[in-house]
Amino acid sequence: MKAVIPAAGHGTRFLPVTRVIPKEMLPIGPRPALELIVGEAKEAGADEIVMVISRGKELIRRYFEDDPAIRFVLQEEQKGLGHAVLQAADAVGGDGKFLVLLGDALVAGASASAELVAMSAAHGGAGVIGLERVPKEKVSRYGIVKMDGDRIVDMVEKPSPESAPSDLAVAGRYLLDAAVFDMLRTQAPGKGGEIQLTDAIRRLLAEKPVCGCAYSGKRQDIGSPKGYFEALKAMGENE
Ligand code: UTP
Repeated sequence: MKAVIPAAGHGTRFLPVTRVIPKEMLPIGPRPALELIVGEAKEAGADEIVMVISRGKELIRRYFEDDPAIRFVLQEEQKGLGHAVLQAADAVGGDGKFLVLLGDALVAGASASAELVAMSAAHGGAGVIGLERVPKEKVSRYGIVKMDGDRIVDMVEKPSPESAPSDLAVAGRYLLDAAVFDMLRTQAPGKGGEIQLTDAIRRLLAEKPVCGCAYSGKRQDIGSPKGYFEALKAMGENE
């Protein structure tokens, strides 16, 4: 199985340090966050990892260049997460399923990717989306799913608490059928003028069953200083 780690974003929420240090390379103790994410992918069974980087992020290539399981693809322009994943299409190939792990999302306490892989083995279908329960008053910050049993039937970007179909948010880990690349190739720009992965997944789940997996670990979004501090704290408590 292959895994794609998009790590080409601008990191504006973590400026000014991200002018020289990619947010994905911020240290969590002695290791950069990205190394922990690579470890999670390998633990879940990924034997080849495609890292999507941008020109300003050569530090990532330098750090991982001796790892034979990792290859790099360049996202020339930061046109969104969906566009970043699409850059890995040739490296992933057209068959089977692949993992996507956001390069700025750590999951503490459990291997979210392994839980997605296990759910896919049990349920089949065209993919499994990692989910996290969020407080009802905060749903407007996330992509929220509508479920029917284990199956996701719709996704809504940043709904109001009144209109949200659930309190389950899309949370940085995906196991997707390579058919999603076909959707991404024809995906029109969505929110913020970016090519959104969730828009392509919505088209995928309209055609084929896609499951949701509320994984057991706690997600930390290290793309913001607050999430980064939480990740450090969680690590400190486990030491
Ligand atoms: P974010 O949504 O956090 O976007 O990306 P960002 O642009 O990096 O961050 P801000 O909003 O400017 O602070 C989630 C993940 O997807 C990658 C990022 O590197 C991050 O790991 N990404 C995002 C890309 O690889 N390419 C993109 O065009 C956008």
